[in-house]
Amino acid sequence: MVYRTAIVGTGGIAVAHIEGIRALGGRAEVSAVVDIDTARARAFAETWGIARVHASVDEMLAAEKPDLVHICTPPGSHLPLTAAVLRGGSVPLVEKPPAMTLAEIDEAIAVERETGRQAVAVFQQRFGSGAVRLRQAVADGTFGRPLVAVCNTLWYRDAEYFAVPWRGNWEIEGGGPTMGHGIHQFDLLLSILGPWQTVRAVAARQDRPTDTEDVSAAIVTFENGAIATVLNSLVSPRETSSLRFDFEHATVELEHLYGYGDADWRFTPAPGSEALAESWSGAGARAAASEVRSGHAAQFSAIFDALDAGRPAPVGLDDARQTMDLVASIYASAFEDRTVIRGSIDAGDPFYASMLGTGAPWLTALTGATA
Ligand SMILES: NC(=O)c1ccc[n+]([C@@H]2O[C@H](COP(=O)([O-])OP(=O)(O)OC[C@H]3O[C@@H](n4cnc5c(N)ncnc54)[C@H](O)[C@@H]3O)[C@@H](O)[C@H]2O)c1
Repeated sequence: MVYRTAIVGTGGIAVAHIEGIRALGGRAEVSAVVDIDTARARAFAETWGIARVHASVDEMLAAEKPDLVHICTPPGSHLPLTAAVLRGGSVPLVEKPPAMTLAEIDEAIAVERETGRQAVAVFQQRFGSGAVRLRQAVADGTFGRPLVAVCNTLWYRDAEYFAVPWRGNWEIEGGGPTMGHGIHQFDLLLSILGPWQTVRAVAARQDRPTDTEDVSAAIVTFENGAIATVLNSLVSPRETSSLRFDFEHATVELEHLYGYGDADWRFTPAPGSEALAESWSGAGARAAASEVRSGHAAQFSAIFDALDAGRPAPVGLDDARQTMDLVASIYASAFEDRTVIRGSIDAGDPFYASMLGTGAPWLTALTGATA
């Protein structure tokens, strides 16, 4: 089946969506676009040869009845648009972060139940062939127990980057590199190590002119016993995204920036476990012909495979909620100087309805100073 899709929000990331769809040949076709900036939507439609531009999401849903809708707008609009698309009869494919808060993601999950339809969160780093192979190896216990992991998103965003009004703003972006940048890497970490258990974190505004943090650092424990450090930064001139997993019998590492291929992985067996190298690189070499780079096309392909087979498409909101729970818990731990247990941020917790919760120390200090 050829899926019919529409794109809402024709800014930066919409390009990755149309390129991802086009890279899959005939599996899907984008028939319409919507943007509150209609000139921008028209220019996008012209550049990419898309047939129709609509003035609003409701008009587009009624006219096009697409199978899927790519939601490529700033985070503050993700919940209302996800709800509108579900209620309009299509599957929303919502950019990260899927919602601004745990309260919002729970509301989106409630709309899924009400409509009997699924929403999908974009976390494209889960879908490169190396990550797929590693998840399988962990499930099979091939490398022994996971013991230690390191997850670094060390990126560089200058002051100009924050000039876009929604960036660096708690109300519209919902958080800094924890919510908006490192989230890709630690979502991949969680997809490999499974449920996390506790987190202890700090966050700081080291340099950039933002209300949100520009750095956070966390120690995360997992149900399987592994311990990870997670560092999220927007002030690091030599940029890298890296993951390292130390298992009983091997170290598996990934280093890239915004997307990876099989060559970006490195495997080191523990002394005495050299034979395991074959189970990583041997399988990798055999799979090389079907190497899949991480990216939007890789996730879209997995989504269409699932829909073709009548299965829930990845990444479902229940799954994405675990990642959002870690985001909220990092902020709660950092701002209140406490260890946070997974699932403990419920409706009674200030960090449930706002990632800012009881307030970032740098903002609180500011309020105190001007009061
Ligand atoms: N997956 C990734 O790797 C990745 C990378 C960058 C950005 N993102 C995410 O993609 C989203 C968009 O980011 P961007 O950089 O493309 O932003 P952008 O500002 O470049 O584009 C957003 C577009 O949405 C439009 N818009 C805003 N509200 C709208 C509404 N209610 N209805 C219709 N159109 C609306 C704006 O006019 C603008 O054209 C964000 O959630 C961001 O976190 C994801």
